[in-house]
Amino acid sequence: LVKLNPLKRMLIMELGVKTMEWRGGRLFILDQRLLPTEIRYLDCVSYKQVYDAIRSLAVRGAPAIGVAAGYGMALAAWEAIDKKAENFSKFLSQAGDYLVSSRPTAVNLSWAVQRINRLADQHKRLAPQKMSALILAEAEKIEQEDVAQCKKIGEWGESLLPSPCTVLTHCNAGSLATAGYGTALGVIYAAVLRGKRVQVFCDESRPLLQGSRLTAWELMQSGIPTTIICDDMAAQVMRDKGVDLVVVGADRIAGNGDFANKIGTYGLAALAHFHSIPFYVAAPTSTIDFSIDSGRGIPIEERDPAEVTEGMGKRTAPYGAQVYNPAFDITPAELVTSFITERGIHRPPFKTSLKDGLSG
Ligand code: MRU
Repeated sequence: LVKLNPLKRMLIMELGVKTMEWRGGRLFILDQRLLPTEIRYLDCVSYKQVYDAIRSLAVRGAPAIGVAAGYGMALAAWEAIDKKAENFSKFLSQAGDYLVSSRPTAVNLSWAVQRINRLADQHKRLAPQKMSALILAEAEKIEQEDVAQCKKIGEWGESLLPSPCTVLTHCNAGSLATAGYGTALGVIYAAVLRGKRVQVFCDESRPLLQGSRLTAWELMQSGIPTTIICDDMAAQVMRDKGVDLVVVGADRIAGNGDFANKIGTYGLAALAHFHSIPFYVAAPTSTIDFSIDSGRGIPIEERDPAEVTEGMGKRTAPYGAQVYNPAFDITPAELVTSFITERGIHRPPFKTSLKDGLSG
């Protein structure tokens, strides 16, 4: 008898639910605002539509918005030709600036746009048609690399998971937040594919509920035992439910290992520290921003107060109430046990291990 691994058949990307897909000169983006109740794709034919999709969180998650921005640049290149732009390079660089302005925290966005800009600069003598084809090929490469890097992150990270084990995660750092497979969830998928028994507690991740809407959905599609908790239940769950480790993703990692991730991550890291639970951060190296020395330099996006006051589609706060709604927080490096990248497991001191290689 051949023993089929149910997970292998059921990863959402293998079920045909892709975060985005380039087809026939258009970018189809899974509208994550509608999940988990509806699977619908936005049909983007312009870089401004890609901007809107990123800004409105139809596509979200640091690596995924980097990949979307790459395709946004490919659309911009074709638009420059269609619109007979006088200055192709200028059109392209303005489109890049516009895309980067959609969300400030995740560095993968500017990383992808800079990568395309560099390529365009190197080949600036090419005819626009040829240049556009080159840009599209680069965007496709960014997407393929992202999936490959997530798989590598999974392979490295799964070695940190005992079997059986109970994992706590926050927000969504899965297939939906990347071109496929995921970073933090990639670690869990890899462990399960190895035959390990893993159960997951996922924080619902207020205010936009990426944990309960996306992570729980994604893990359940893969048959992984999943329990949703409200964010404020994490302390009790850590103390009473035998959490073995926490694994989360990252939006930007500073050179010293301070990192930005979904609001609530810092509190989770502090709680893990208090309970002596290992706290891991899984991210591709494109999320590391060596131009920033510490977390103080990471810009934090503040979003519409209505996300807090009308979070459940219904008014839940007094009219006129003041609201503070940062989308991300900064976790200090000292609370991180290890970073897991496609290159391996990076242990403290992060200032050297993130840059020069792996330590410990
Ligand atoms: O606001 P979001 O949903 O884009 O926030 C996403 C996160 O904070 C993720 O944890 C992070 O981008 C890592 S995704 C692999």
